[in-house]
Amino acid sequence: MFALVFMSFLMFESALGRSFTIDYENNCFLKDGKPFRYISGGIHYFRVPRMYWKDRLMKIKAAGLNAVQTYIPWNIHEPEPGVYKFEGEADVLSFIKLVQETGLLLILRPGPYICAEWEFGGFPPWLLKNASIILRSSKDPVYTSAVTSWFKVLLPMLRPHLYSNGGPIISLQVENEYGYYFTCDEKYLVFLQRLMEKYLGKDVILFTTDGDYESQLKCGTLPSLFSTVDFGPGTDPKKAFALLRKFQARGPLVNSEYYTGWLDVWGKKHQTTDPILTAAKLDQILAMNASVNMYMFEGGTNFGYMNGGTNDNSVYLPVTTSYDYDAPLSEAGDPGVSNEKYNAIKKIVTKYLPDPKIPIPPPTPKYAYGKIQMTKIISSQNSKTVTSKYPKTMEQMGMYYGFVIYRTNIVISTKLSQLTNVLNIPGVRDRAIVFIDKVRQRVVNRNDKKKFFHIKVKKQSMLEIMIENQGRIIDGDMNDPKGLISNVTLDGVILINWTVIHVKDPPDVYHEPKSDLFGANNQVPAFFKGIVPSMPEGLSPQDTYLSLHGWEKGQVFLNGFNLGRYWPVEGPQITLYVPASAFKKDKNILIVLELDGAPCAEPKNCYVEMVTKPILNGTVLYKQF
Ligand SMILES: *[C@@H]1O[C@H](CO)[C@@H](O)[C@H](O)[C@H]1NC(C)=O
Ligand SMILES: *[C@@H]1O[C@H](CO)[C@@H](O)[C@H](O)[C@H]1NC(C)=O
Ligand SMILES: *[C@@H]1O[C@H](CO)[C@@H](O)[C@H](O)[C@H]1NC(C)=O
Ligand SMILES: *[C@@H]1O[C@H](CO)[C@@H](O)[C@H](O)[C@H]1NC(C)=O
Ligand SMILES: *[C@@H]1O[C@H](CO)[C@@H](O)[C@H](O)[C@H]1NC(C)=O
Repeated sequence: MFALVFMSFLMFESALGRSFTIDYENNCFLKDGKPFRYISGGIHYFRVPRMYWKDRLMKIKAAGLNAVQTYIPWNIHEPEPGVYKFEGEADVLSFIKLVQETGLLLILRPGPYICAEWEFGGFPPWLLKNASIILRSSKDPVYTSAVTSWFKVLLPMLRPHLYSNGGPIISLQVENEYGYYFTCDEKYLVFLQRLMEKYLGKDVILFTTDGDYESQLKCGTLPSLFSTVDFGPGTDPKKAFALLRKFQARGPLVNSEYYTGWLDVWGKKHQTTDPILTAAKLDQILAMNASVNMYMFEGGTNFGYMNGGTNDNSVYLPVTTSYDYDAPLSEAGDPGVSNEKYNAIKKIVTKYLPDPKIPIPPPTPKYAYGKIQMTKIISSQNSKTVTSKYPKTMEQMGMYYGFVIYRTNIVISTKLSQLTNVLNIPGVRDRAIVFIDKVRQRVVNRNDKKKFFHIKVKKQSMLEIMIENQGRIIDGDMNDPKGLISNVTLDGVILINWTVIHVKDPPDVYHEPKSDLFGANNQVPAFFKGIVPSMPEGLSPQDTYLSLHGWEKGQVFLNGFNLGRYWPVEGPQITLYVPASAFKKDKNILIVLELDGAPCAEPKNCYVEMVTKPILNGTVLYKQF
């Protein structure tokens, strides 16, 4: 009798006495053999400064949640094929350990495609060196072997942190909303499942997530993988789960992305979700005994060049720098302005799970550093150049992020009067500023219908086309390389012999450059430099928001840290979140790369300002492209 009990115990538990499994009969998860459900919050370690990881996890725990969910973006961890980065802000293993220390469980979504409104849906840009690569499919060996070598590095690192091995990871998602993608390739999901089982073992739950649509569940699920759905407060949970039941008759119900808010794109109104409705629908989901992950619990920030772009009806719209998401914790990790959403959610969560009764860490202090006087600086050319007969894409040149300047000399052999001088730049990805002999001509946007115009040239002129990569596309047709994707013509003649300069980082402000990259007169683009006023003696750096009121469009760097894109004239985001981690003890240097128009005709107006309140809901133009 004793021996029998002991044996069945062994079958349930791993060597460490820990197990996390699915009880299909009783429609629930089993944690260490006992019925279990999770209430999880989405937080992306790559969108929150590392110094704040612990603070945010504590705030999630304080709301009563028992798990968190994060994606793993391939592109920050393998910046070049075979070159891996897992240190500093990319130290995902430290994040995993912090999750465990905080007493939370972890749901991981390693992709390889993640969407997340993150640059290229998490894919590394070097995949697009061949723009015809077949992504998210089993059909292209170039793609599948890149995935294989990435997972061969990543998954063995994760394995010791699986729940059954003593870690916090209870489940991993295979791909991401795959049923939404047109390839609908079952073999690809099988390929990923085998790869994950090979490196993780079979002792962990692998699951898929799809929208609550029949077609999506058809292409996105596999009988051998646990299926979950995602939907927001606008959906009736009973209907969504009933559809899931058509594909998976038994097992726990899971909403892997319950939308607490929504993302913003430049040029469209700021998105918000009603806190009361968000909490009420969460209550309905939990009343059905379902498990849930709230997407997002904290959205965070698309620092640097890492926002993705959407492509709705062939209109390209980049995601804003802020990924605040109107989530229960703000971009800065605070429980909102009024705490309303955070408190409403906590009230529902603690109906179903015990209230941890831990004090909520207070909002991080904000400091108004005040006005920062900016002055134009000469911009050196601080990167290597690439030359080619015909223009190459940014990916082909290994210039993945930021800006590139395509330069060529136009030499006219015929009589100037015989020319109409029509310059045609049909293949702009995503936004070009055109110069002739260092004089700014005009902007050509990829959404513009007309991408040709008249220019004035001399017998010999220098043409420069500065192109901004505004963030790679996150879904739909993702084979969308950046820079120039087709030839440039003048009166129908293809222009050749290009030199390309990469502009990604601020110029080296400590050394006087020999010549100005952008031309010496008072035009933009140009770099501007300012010193942030110091904190009062004895205070350490604090979070703040950078107001770019009066400036038009560009990129900002604090002590070399890329705070992201700003575009207040497009809206809705007006201020940029500046975390305390970007400051030094003294002499904080702010560099602004302004593309379209700086308020600097009079030096007294040439400033930016650090304030204590964000503005994410500025007015937008509702432009028709
Ligand atoms: C690019 O990828 C496509 C799709 O797999 C393939 O057919 C083609 O041969 C590749 N081109 C080169 C130059 O490798
Ligand atoms: C939820 O689970 C409880 C306990 O197992 C059960 O009594 C109840 O009927 C379930 N509710 C639903 C809606 O499935
Ligand atoms: C530019 O034109 C040349 C010559 O016709 C062609 O070989 C090349 O593929 C074109 N480049 C692009 C990017 O279209
Ligand atoms: C392009 O470069 C080649 C090789 O350097 C040179 O022979 C040719 O004259 C150049 N053509 C133009 C139009 O600049
Ligand atoms: C932005 O939000 C604030 C705070 O909720 C509100 O006072 C303000 O009117 C809003 N601005 C716009 C332009 O909607």
